Amino acid sequence: MYKIAIVTVSDKGARGERVDESGPAISQMVKSLGEVVSYQIVPDEVDLIKGLLIKLCDEEKVDLIFTTGGTGLSPRDYTPEATLAVIDREVPGLAEVMRMESLKKTNRAMLSRAVAGVRKQTLIVNLPGSVKAVRENLEAIMPALPHGLDILSGQGSECGLS
Ligand code: MTE
Repeated sequence: MYKIAIVTVSDKGARGERVDESGPAISQMVKSLGEVVSYQIVPDEVDLIKGLLIKLCDEEKVDLIFTTGGTGLSPRDYTPEATLAVIDREVPGLAEVMRMESLKKTNRAMLSRAVAGVRKQTLIVNLPGSVKAVRENLEAIMPALPHGLDILSGQGSECGLS
């Protein structure tokens, strides 16, 4: 079972002006992957997001971080930039599949600038902010995550079996 962190990026959520439904939705959907050991709501501030991601990777050593929110075009949407600033390697296929599958549901999917990547032993995945988008995007990548985490953590090596 992997250690999972959820980071909701939302100015209103952080101020207590909006109830976060997306973080809990992620938590529900990832039960088969591991345990959610951290759930935090932060405002759309690049340095705060970067600092939290680094802490979760380097100190708390979680295996997987999902961010939700801040992937769009609003002037305060900088979650992908914060993520790109802290990762060592991008995993473009995850974002590609999220957008590809999401486009079958809404043409607005192309407005998400979400990225995914690895910092040390931690996989970080951006998800858009709405509960609907979280469900649809996460559904698209869930099947490949166990194998990806097994390889990243050194627990798996056989890539050709399925
Ligand atoms: N992806 C899916 N699957 N379903 C959605 O409803 N919403 C889109 C997009 N991705 C959506 C989606 C919309 S409307 C926006 S603006 C972008 O994600 C960015 O969302 P964010 O700014 O909340 O991160």
